[in-house]
Amino acid sequence: MRDVSGRTAFITGAAGGIGLGMARAFIAAGMRVAIADINADKLAAAAESLRATGAEVCPVVLDITSPAAWAHALEAAEAALGPISVLCNNAGIGQGRFPDGRPIELAEMPEALWHLVIDINVHGTFNGIRAAAPRMKAQGGGHIVNTASMAGLVSPGGLGAYCASKYAVVGLSEALRAELAPHNIGVSVLCPGGVRTDFVASSAERRAATPGAEEGMAQPLATRADPAPRMDPLNVGHRVLAAIRNDDFYIITHPEYRGLVDERIAAITAAFGPSAQPGYIDPPIVTDRSRNPEYARAAARGQEPSHG
Ligand SMILES: NC(=O)c1ccc[n+]([C@@H]2O[C@H](COP(=O)([O-])OP(=O)(O)OC[C@H]3O[C@@H](n4cnc5c(N)ncnc54)[C@H](O)[C@@H]3O)[C@@H](O)[C@H]2O)c1
Repeated sequence: MRDVSGRTAFITGAAGGIGLGMARAFIAAGMRVAIADINADKLAAAAESLRATGAEVCPVVLDITSPAAWAHALEAAEAALGPISVLCNNAGIGQGRFPDGRPIELAEMPEALWHLVIDINVHGTFNGIRAAAPRMKAQGGGHIVNTASMAGLVSPGGLGAYCASKYAVVGLSEALRAELAPHNIGVSVLCPGGVRTDFVASSAERRAATPGAEEGMAQPLATRADPAPRMDPLNVGHRVLAAIRNDDFYIITHPEYRGLVDERIAAITAAFGPSAQPGYIDPPIVTDRSRNPEYARAAARGQEPSHG
């Protein structure tokens, strides 16, 4: 979508952090922006700060895990700002860690915490797609950006639920890109490393609002981020804007993780050996069903990502 000026974007998890960074970048490019979040107070403050710059903004309180709430949210945003051309499924939650930095392993994770992470990160993203994609199809085009993470491309121990959820976001985004290409709807998946946001605190807030999320844990989980430096979310927002204009598939903001992704791909490739049934291979009519033409298309473009 080369020409974004005057178009409307709907961004979830936009009361702060990466979502607000996207909102600021989009506004600077002349877009109208609906910002959605479950945290009403923070959302109101974010809307105020954007309006102070003269921007046209529509704040919408939304719990992305509710399909019914999505329908109302999009209607409200479209009534205020016109048809939505860009959807950013960005709201998310982390699985947390202990205050001493110890991660939560899958074997000790409360069931309710697993469900919470999957519900927000996966079902929330699916709900957004189900609500917005049919509208974009009817309009004749658009662009969807799903926020995954580097944790959607590599899975270290101690991040099992979060990685499972973000791998799901990457997987569904890859399928969605193939499905929506014929409808003139681009799909990008954002996979950042560390970004300076209130993610630890906002995730703790959601866990506190969820019965059983920390049940049976020997220690409470951390509510404050460690002080290591992180990327400015506004820079992530500008990169997302450039990716929408360039129809980039994967949005990689942190090139320092390249080696880790290469290691994973090499491990998978190394596992390809002889058939488990000597002499048998799936015929092309079967293997071709697994081909996503968007991989080859992105690779052929050299993916020349917009560094804008
Ligand atoms: N900060 C990082 O280092 C980092 C790295 C990779 C990926 N991410 C991803 O970026 C996205 C944005 O996170 P952030 O870092 O900007 O943190 P953030 O806390 O600023 O933003 C997350 C927002 O999502 C909202 N939210 C949570 N549950 C919601 C729900 N059910 N409905 C609506 N809104 C809900 C929170 O209120 C919060 O405002 C997340 O998906 C996160 O997984 C963050």
